[in-house]
Amino acid sequence: MSLSLRAKFLLLSAIVQAMVVALLIGNSQRVMDSAVGKNAERVAHEYAVTLNLTLSPYAIRGRLSELNDYWTEMLSDPQDSFVRYIIVLDQNDVPLATAGEHPPALPAALRNGTAPAMNGVRTWQVGSTLHARAPMLLKDNQIGSLNFGLSTSELDKAREEVFLQSGLISLVGLGLGVLLFYAFTQGIGRRLRALTGQAGQLMKTAFGRNLPDGDGDEIEVYARSLNSMSVALRERVLQLEASQQRLSESEARFKTLFDMAPLPLSVTDRNGRIIGANQALTSTFGYTEKQLIGQRSDSFTFWGAPEERERIWQLYMRHGAVHGEVANMALRGGGTGRLAIWSSSLTLDGVDAIIWALLDMTAELNAKQELEELNASLERRVSERSAELERANGDLSHALQTLQRTQHDLIAAEKMASLGSLVAGIAHELNTPIGNSLLASTALGDRVVEFEAMLSGGTLRRSTLSAYNEEVKLASGLISGSLNKAANLIASFKQIAVDQTNDQRRVFNLLAVVLDTAATYVPRLRRANCGTAFHVPQGLALDSYPGSWYQVFNNLINNALAHAFEDRSDGTISISARELDGGMVEIVFSDNGAGMAEEVRRHVFDPFFTTKMGRGGTGLGMNIVYNIVTGMLGGRVTVASQPGQGTAVRIVVPRSSPVRAG
Ligand SMILES: Nc1ncnc2c1ncn2[C@@H]1O[C@H](COP(=O)(O)OP(=O)(O)OP(=O)(O)O)[C@@H](O)[C@H]1O
Ligand SMILES: [Mg+2]
Repeated sequence: MSLSLRAKFLLLSAIVQAMVVALLIGNSQRVMDSAVGKNAERVAHEYAVTLNLTLSPYAIRGRLSELNDYWTEMLSDPQDSFVRYIIVLDQNDVPLATAGEHPPALPAALRNGTAPAMNGVRTWQVGSTLHARAPMLLKDNQIGSLNFGLSTSELDKAREEVFLQSGLISLVGLGLGVLLFYAFTQGIGRRLRALTGQAGQLMKTAFGRNLPDGDGDEIEVYARSLNSMSVALRERVLQLEASQQRLSESEARFKTLFDMAPLPLSVTDRNGRIIGANQALTSTFGYTEKQLIGQRSDSFTFWGAPEERERIWQLYMRHGAVHGEVANMALRGGGTGRLAIWSSSLTLDGVDAIIWALLDMTAELNAKQELEELNASLERRVSERSAELERANGDLSHALQTLQRTQHDLIAAEKMASLGSLVAGIAHELNTPIGNSLLASTALGDRVVEFEAMLSGGTLRRSTLSAYNEEVKLASGLISGSLNKAANLIASFKQIAVDQTNDQRRVFNLLAVVLDTAATYVPRLRRANCGTAFHVPQGLALDSYPGSWYQVFNNLINNALAHAFEDRSDGTISISARELDGGMVEIVFSDNGAGMAEEVRRHVFDPFFTTKMGRGGTGLGMNIVYNIVTGMLGGRVTVASQPGQGTAVRIVVPRSSPVRAG
């Protein structure tokens, strides 16, 4: 029979309490007995002394029989006296006197002296009578013994009463104790049941509610530790659930990725047996998943040749992985493809496995091969073309040389042309003064002949002489004036001619060069009805190449006459100059003529660019200006122009031109 813990507790506590009660009662009984015994012995002693005192006078004289009445009286009412009997024995234990209801024989323990003695009085309890024996002096100094029996029934009654009451109190205590223990275990049982319930909940991983806080006893401590265990377990279970969730999610992801991956993927065990294959693999090789699972990959005609499988497998065994090895494989539809293979070890459901990824590289590899072939042919063609280009380059540099020679010749021709126009100008300019001089000197010669005739005829009159004198003065003045003018012209032409042909560096006055150049254009400017305005500071001197400057101004004036004022007759050419910071000089040549379109302006410095092709233009004028300004003069030149708005050529040069090398 199995008992509940509580029942066992109750039973145990009842037994323990009963034992305690029994022990208590037993002990009180023992204490009572000893107290009663001691009391009876003391009473027996007191009685022995009293009786001895009372009997001794009679016993010594052998007159004990005289006391019969007294004894009878004393022993008659057992309520009054404790004494039950009295026997006086002589030294041979022969009764000398007896009174009361004595037993047929005295207890042996008294007779043979083995009973315990107290102050000479031996006592022995038999039933409710305490038998006592004390020595007594008798007649003739004989020592007999006084024997008497004392009733202990009163004491026994009192003892029984005490026993009964203490028994009753103990029973009540026992009952109360059991009751209290019952109530106590009831509470404990309830809490234990709560603990058990909680533990049961934990077992079902339903954590329930925390147990209530108590008063800090052991069960509470236990409950608290159960609570913290429950919390810890709950957290652990939640973590486990979360990681389980993550695991199953990642498994699902892996499965989805595996299935959806565009690359053919398969998983085999360590013996090459296929455990998994994705859709890309089944569609690439034309097998169903059912056909593949559980089979060895060599049982299918995956491979272009059995050696191919062996080669890849050996590579895997040697290195534990395969990295992009290319193998020939049989594809769906009977074709052979070249596939790159990767592999890696993994553990699936505790089983060592290998995942294989394949990439169809057929198109790429073919394209690569084609590319390589193309490259080779391209290289061939490039080297052929390079050779051709080199040849063409040679031809071109030859052409360039010819061109440069031509350009040089043309520039020389241009120079000659400008010299030609210079000479024409000079001839024209000299024509007037020299013609005037000729006219005057011819007229003067005629007058001299007339004068000689008058002089030899004797018809010369004073008035005629003085008129003649006036005429000669006028003619000679005219002649010398004209010749002076011619001499000046020749001097300035000579300077230009010398500068243009020598192009020596020297310090010169810019205004003088401007005026000299303009002087050579006077007839053309006059013909074109073109005015000039020069704003060049008097003292502005340059350390430069005046011949180059003549060329620059020649070209600019030529262009203004040829292009700007082609259809106009009231243009103005102006040349202004000013000094800038840093030893620079700005010279602006402008006309208020036709201007030029943006397209023309952008190409104005290009060699051979002309809008007068076939009408006398070579397209070298502005190119010469550009080369001279940026080369010999070490400056820069820009053109600003718009159709109908005239043209301004801005030249900025250092006052001192760079030293020419060589
Ligand atoms: N002042 C100007 N006004 C308008 N157009 C001009 C002016 N100067 C030059 N041009 C334009 O620039 C072109 C190039 O000038 P450039 O002096 O180089 O050649 P060109 O005068 O045509 O021939 P070349 O000077 O060799 O006889 C000219 O054909 C003309 O169209
Ligand atoms: Mg020109």
